[in-house]
Amino acid sequence: MIPVLDPNPENIRAAAMALRAGRLVAMPTETVYGLAGNALDPAPLARIFEVKRRPFFDPLIVHVADAAAVQPLVRDLPEGAQRLMDRFWPGPLTLVLPKSHLVPDLATSGLPEVAVRVPSHPVARALLRETGLPLAAPSANPFGALSPTTAEHVANAFEDGIECVLDGGPSSVGVESSVLAWRNGKPALLRPGGIPVEALEEALGVAVLVVGGDGLGAQPSPGMLPWHYAPSVPLTLSEAKAIAATTTAENEGLLWFGDAEAPAGYARVENLSPSGDLREAAANLFAALHRLDASGAARISRIRAARVPDEGLGRAINERLEKASKKT
Ligand code: TXA
Ligand code: MG
Repeated sequence: MIPVLDPNPENIRAAAMALRAGRLVAMPTETVYGLAGNALDPAPLARIFEVKRRPFFDPLIVHVADAAAVQPLVRDLPEGAQRLMDRFWPGPLTLVLPKSHLVPDLATSGLPEVAVRVPSHPVARALLRETGLPLAAPSANPFGALSPTTAEHVANAFEDGIECVLDGGPSSVGVESSVLAWRNGKPALLRPGGIPVEALEEALGVAVLVVGGDGLGAQPSPGMLPWHYAPSVPLTLSEAKAIAATTTAENEGLLWFGDAEAPAGYARVENLSPSGDLREAAANLFAALHRLDASGAARISRIRAARVPDEGLGRAINERLEKASKKT
């Protein structure tokens, strides 16, 4: 059992000591829980891949305490990067920047760029300050599985290999950070996430190329596999109208959204936001999927998920559901 600890100053000091000694700690962030290790030391980086059973071609995000701590890790900043840092950090935005020699190749899967972000969760920030290190932290779930938004999700997903989970409560944003890179000098969104693309475009004053998609064909980013974030049972994604018109088979679970009444006959229904609020829906997404997936008594055999409006955080939600639906 991995110990779940209250994030009091004493436990944060102990966790920081473990991180400095090369061990791994699961930490809360505002997006999802992260599995953290010293980003400057190849040994804990290798452990992160091993514990998550993550392929080495999928690079890690490096977390730092503030924008100043990014300087030693990067060579230079593309046009607009500073503005985005000022505007959205701390917060759910990851920037992919040319890396300095300090960043081990293992963190970037051998790529010349490193992904960095400053998380806003007070426990993550306290831990970063206390360790004085940049922390590489992918989402704290086994590779390909649902992302964790509570300490319990993390503790249930791993047997060992992690020093402790600091319990910072449910993640408030609920979907991973938006990942932005520059391609031929132009901003390109590699993963939709906690900062809507509309907000990025507004801050930059230029259009952002959306290269996310389903990762088939030209992979925009090495981690962009066609499937991901998957529950253990099959998930089918459709328009709400199509779901309402389908008769449900036995033991199906329904992921619903908005104030329209959910169709009858489902063994379990989760409404991401009865009032139709996409922020609330994002915050509830992974916990709702975990509950449907784990609804033991109801023995859910399939999850039917209704697409949410494709705007704001809705894009990040639909992208996660699309990837969950592609696991065969
Ligand atoms: O919100 C988040 O970003 C969470 C929390 C823990 O901070 N972390 C997270 O990490 O989602 P992870 O490992 O699940 O996703 C990292 C993704 C990679 O799969 C890849 O798509 C992109 O970020 N990425 C990382 N480094 C990159 C690089 N050098 N070039 C291009 N894409 C990169
Ligand atoms: Mg992940």
